[in-house]
Amino acid sequence: MSIDERLENTSFPLPAIREVNLSKHPSGISLGLGELKDFDVDEKIFMSLKEGWQQGGTSYTQNAGLPDLRKAIAQKHSAIDGFPYTMDNIIVTIGVQNAVYTSLLTLAKLGAKRVLIPEIHFGIYKKIPLDFGMEVVSYPLKDDFGIDEKALNGIIKEDDVLIINSPSNPTGRVLSLEEQKSLGELLAKKLTQGYVISDEIYGQLVYDAPKAISFSAFFDRTIVVDGISKSAAAAGLRVGWIITNNEKLAKAFTSNNATIISTPPTANQYAALPVVKGETEDTISTYRQILKANRDKVIAVLDKLNIPYVMPKGSFYIFPKVSTIVEGDIKEFCLNTARKENGVVVIPGVAFGAPDYIRISLASKQIDEGMRRFEEAIRNCLK
Ligand SMILES: Cc1ncc(COP(=O)(O)O)c(C=O)c1O
Repeated sequence: MSIDERLENTSFPLPAIREVNLSKHPSGISLGLGELKDFDVDEKIFMSLKEGWQQGGTSYTQNAGLPDLRKAIAQKHSAIDGFPYTMDNIIVTIGVQNAVYTSLLTLAKLGAKRVLIPEIHFGIYKKIPLDFGMEVVSYPLKDDFGIDEKALNGIIKEDDVLIINSPSNPTGRVLSLEEQKSLGELLAKKLTQGYVISDEIYGQLVYDAPKAISFSAFFDRTIVVDGISKSAAAAGLRVGWIITNNEKLAKAFTSNNATIISTPPTANQYAALPVVKGETEDTISTYRQILKANRDKVIAVLDKLNIPYVMPKGSFYIFPKVSTIVEGDIKEFCLNTARKENGVVVIPGVAFGAPDYIRISLASKQIDEGMRRFEEAIRNCLK
C-alpha cells in the first residue's frame, strides 16, 4: 500500500479535548480550557519578553536553552531539594509537552521498555510512549484519586519509567508530603534502574493545601518537568524545562531535543525569567485565590445536583463522576452541550481514560453563568 493509500485509510485525530472545544457554539461558554486564558498576565513577563527581544531575541540560543534561565531554574530547584544543580542539569523545552516527549524518547533510546501512567491521566502520557513502541501500563488510583501504592508495588519493575502528576490534570488531586515520602520510600526499594518523570506543571497552583514540593526531594531518580504555561497564564509562550540531577542524562536530553526543536524561542525564554525568579508571585497568588473561589462555586452546584466528586486542591480542574446521573454516552452529552446555542463546554473524562467522568475547568471568568448552563444541561438529561 502506498503512503497516499494509507493516508486515505488512517485517521490522525485531534485529542478529544480539542474536538470538544472546537465544537463550541459561538454563544457557548467554555469550562473546557486547559489554561488561565481569562487571567491577567503579569506585566513583568511582557517587560522581560520585550527586553529579550531587544537583546538578541531573533538569534538562536544554546540547544539546551538560555544560560540565564537555566541558571535561575537550577538555583530555584537546589533550594527545594538540596542538590547542587548547575545550568548543565537543565534543558529548556517548548512547553512541558516537549519536555515529556524528549524525556520519554531518550529513555526509550536508552532501552526503557515500560511506562507506568496513572489510570486517570493527561492524554499524552499514553500517546507519546506508544509512538515510541513502549508498553504502557496503567497504575490504579484510590477512590480519592491518590496513588494506590499497594497496587503500584505489585506492578512496578526495577527498570520502569513511572509518570506522576501532582497537582493533577484532570483530578486536581495534590499528593500530600506524607504520600510523597511514602512513595519515595517504595521507589527507593523498587525502582532501582528506572526513572520517575514528575510532571509538576501545576506546582504553583495549589490553592487549598500546603504548598506543593517537588518530588525530586523524595526520590533521587526523578526527572522533573515544569514550565510557565499554567501557573504564569502564559501557555502561548511555550516555555517548559527538564530538570535532572544526572548530567549525562541532561546531555542526552539536549542532543535529542536539538534534533526536534533545535533551540527554544529566545525572547520567550527571557519572558520566563521573572516567573522562575519568583517576581510574579503576587500575581500567581491572586490566581490561587480566584481558583479557590471558583472551586467553591462549582462544588455548590455539584452538591445541589448530587453529583459525586473528590474535592480538588490544586491545578484548575474538578473531575466529577456524572455517570451516576447522566444517561448514555458522556462524550455525546459533552458534544451536545457544547454545540448548543447558549451551551457550555466541559471535557469528557474519556480523554483522560475515565469515561464516567467529566472535567470542568475552574479557570473561567464566566464560571457562574457556565455552571448555570451546566446545571440546566444536567437537569435536561437526568436518568
Ligand atoms: C499535566 C500536563 N502536563 C503537560 C501539559 C502541557 O504543557 P505545555 O502547554 O507547557 O506543553 C499540560 C497541558 O495541558 C498538562 O495539563
